[in-house]
Amino acid sequence: MGQDYIVLMVESDSRDKNADLASYVYRLEEELRALRDERAKLESHTFLLQKKYVELRREFERLTTPPLLVGTVLDVLPNYRAVVKNSNGMTFLVNVMSSVYDKIYPGAQVAMSQQTVAIVDVLPEPKDERVRAFEVVERPEVSYSDIGGLRDVIQEVREVVELPLKNPDVFKEIGIVPPKGVLLYGPPGTGKTLLAKAVAHETNATFIHVVGSELVRKFIGEGAKLVRDLFKLAREKAPAIVFIDEIDAIGAVRTEALTGGDREVQRTLVQLLAELDGFKPLDGVAVLGATNRIDILDPALLRPGRFDRIIEVPLPDESARYEILRVHTKGMKLAKDVNLRALAKAAAGMSGADLKALVTEAGLLAIRKGHKAVRMQDLREAMEKVRKKKVDKGPAHIYL
Ligand SMILES: Nc1ncnc2c1ncn2[C@@H]1O[C@H](COP(=O)(O)OP(=O)(O)O)[C@@H](O)[C@H]1O
Ligand SMILES: [Mg+2]
Repeated sequence: MGQDYIVLMVESDSRDKNADLASYVYRLEEELRALRDERAKLESHTFLLQKKYVELRREFERLTTPPLLVGTVLDVLPNYRAVVKNSNGMTFLVNVMSSVYDKIYPGAQVAMSQQTVAIVDVLPEPKDERVRAFEVVERPEVSYSDIGGLRDVIQEVREVVELPLKNPDVFKEIGIVPPKGVLLYGPPGTGKTLLAKAVAHETNATFIHVVGSELVRKFIGEGAKLVRDLFKLAREKAPAIVFIDEIDAIGAVRTEALTGGDREVQRTLVQLLAELDGFKPLDGVAVLGATNRIDILDPALLRPGRFDRIIEVPLPDESARYEILRVHTKGMKLAKDVNLRALAKAAAGMSGADLKALVTEAGLLAIRKGHKAVRMQDLREAMEKVRKKKVDKGPAHIYL
């Protein structure tokens, strides 16, 4: 197009030729400048789009690659191999990427490739979780007056747990050795945990609370280490009471072939036994255990120098049931017709936890019916409900 124009110009009047050419060149130059600007704009746009493309591509790849599996290292083996347990409890013998081999250790959380289950990364240690494993309770809001019945049990626990911590010299002078470990056993809901919390409230010793089932469930591969840490902490904070609730989760006898998970629990138990053996009585550390299942406990736990004082926490008798009802109706508005003694008599076989549930249920019934105070009828209906629930659920365990 431009060339046709030039030919035309040459053939036209030659006087204005130079001027025309000059203005023509000028216009072309203008056009070129505009085009260059345009090109620069487009180039920078292209650059931005390319950057965006790379980002999206990366995001796409990230979102479409299969996720990594998370597991816990049980054992590190030579030749870049390791034994790992995944969250379903399955155990694998896997390869380890050479760059992470030096960083893994038993108990480490790791990421594994889905195809090969090889370990490709180590996850940061969940520090908070470990701290939460032991609840160092300063002062739980439970006192002995919140416990109905169990007077003899309370007395005995105080004598064998609290006194030696408070007054070790008396024991040394007279020359008697208090037990190192005290085990509370009995049906569920009879107040074992409650009693331990009351001890924590009433004593000046540091109270360290662990729950056996949580130790096993949450800290796969770390149980033994946690037990060691637990006793170390207790010695540092002495005088201290270590309370291990639901100790059967760690201390049950295993008769059948051991699975990987069982072996892990066994290691935790072995560590616990070693720790119990490792401190002297009157060292300022007392151990209190609780279980619903003394029948399945490993006898090794009950040998002298370990849990050598065993205290039964039985189901409440009639007068204890009355006391428990008193405790739980303390803040409640009761109608004149309420007779807690009659209720206690009718509640044969119920545990402290059942009685608490009964009282709560009665309160709810009273609210639903629009009563200003809880009536005897509400309490009786609630008892029926709680009993029915118990039957539906069936006996959870067999007790000794
Ligand atoms: N002897 C008791 N006196 C008062 N309340 C009790 C008693 N026993 C159980 N309870 C109530 O039942 C709840 C559960 O009891 P808990 O101590 O956890 O039982 P356990 O540890 O023996 O299974 C307690 O928090 C308390 O409210
Ligand atoms: Mg309990």
